[in-house]
Amino acid sequence: MAAGTHAHVLVVGGGIIGLAVAWRAARRGLTDIAVVDPDPGGGAARVAAGMLAPVTELQYGEEPLLRLGMASNERYAAFADELTEASGGRDTGYRRCGTVAVALDSDDREELRELHAFHGRLGLDSQWLTGREARKLEPMLAPGVRGGLHVTDDHQVDGRRLAAALVLACERADVRLHRTEAAELLVEGDRAVGVRLGTGETLTADRVVLAAGSRSHLLPGLPAGVLPAIRPVKGQILRLRIPPAYRPFLSRNVRAVVRGQHLYLVPREDGELVIGATSEEQGYDTTVTAGGVYELLRDAHELVPGITELPLVETSAGLRPGSPDNAPLLGPTALPGLVAATGHYRNGVLLTPVTADLLAEYLVTGTTPALAEPFSPTRFTTKVPA
Ligand code: GLY
Repeated sequence: MAAGTHAHVLVVGGGIIGLAVAWRAARRGLTDIAVVDPDPGGGAARVAAGMLAPVTELQYGEEPLLRLGMASNERYAAFADELTEASGGRDTGYRRCGTVAVALDSDDREELRELHAFHGRLGLDSQWLTGREARKLEPMLAPGVRGGLHVTDDHQVDGRRLAAALVLACERADVRLHRTEAAELLVEGDRAVGVRLGTGETLTADRVVLAAGSRSHLLPGLPAGVLPAIRPVKGQILRLRIPPAYRPFLSRNVRAVVRGQHLYLVPREDGELVIGATSEEQGYDTTVTAGGVYELLRDAHELVPGITELPLVETSAGLRPGSPDNAPLLGPTALPGLVAATGHYRNGVLLTPVTADLLAEYLVTGTTPALAEPFSPTRFTTKVPA
């Protein structure tokens, strides 16, 4: 067999999840790791705002996901430090800034009060604020803000910097990056044994990790019933620049529900202000529309009127990979040899450290860690491959 055509672990998809799994597996001592992606470090994280918000983004009925999100949030600082060191000094933009979630009208306030009560029942750290208290924390908030929550442990990271650092860390850990498409999953008997690349080359592997975001289930050769359809949920997002004279402008993440739409503003230490995001289910379309930009600016202006003074420097759209229950698929699938790390929906950036650690643990020991058990891909298996 030619050198480099067999991998111990072959990761399909070089977004932050796939790269982090490869890097952490290498950190755990595994060798012969390869990642297949035409553009490693691309994908949804290049668009995402990078809010690390397990508490303020909590949804009813998603307590197992909360545990996973909290576990990831807790390991973020160490993960970011280790990644900076492993990438030769790349900053990830990790910032421990906290989040305020604010209400603009009495319906929003009711929704936030219920969220606050839910936080209380789960023992989460979340402080109720009057409108005045919210504006004292963030003076740029509109005078009409009716109250809100202060969550000191919901932070942020810069997805672009994170992705760039992961590419470098993988290269420095001797992870082979194949900058091409995975054209087909190769299955022999009842086992995944590798992939055929877009170049026609074949890569065999002991284990294939599928981390291709909203395209994971579309990999040709994947037997029917192993993975559910992962739906692409488009998010349009804006990047503004805060000139030095206006800083700090905002000191922490600001979230709100405006007429039922979730809106957030994420101020980075380097002066970038990210405003997101729309949520649209229209297939694999990443067109930025006038309507999407208009709605984001209209709602953000209602929340923080001063944004109209800031230069708008970029608009973009990405695809969140949504599983049928909006929770990720982590670990071995019903097809021996095939492992999933996909379906992270709104939480890919947040869940990167914990996903990478859980998958690396599984790849090293062959045992699924308890924290990953609720997220077994087999919960969706409709047919066990023959
Ligand atoms: N987690 C933020 C978003 O999905 O828009």
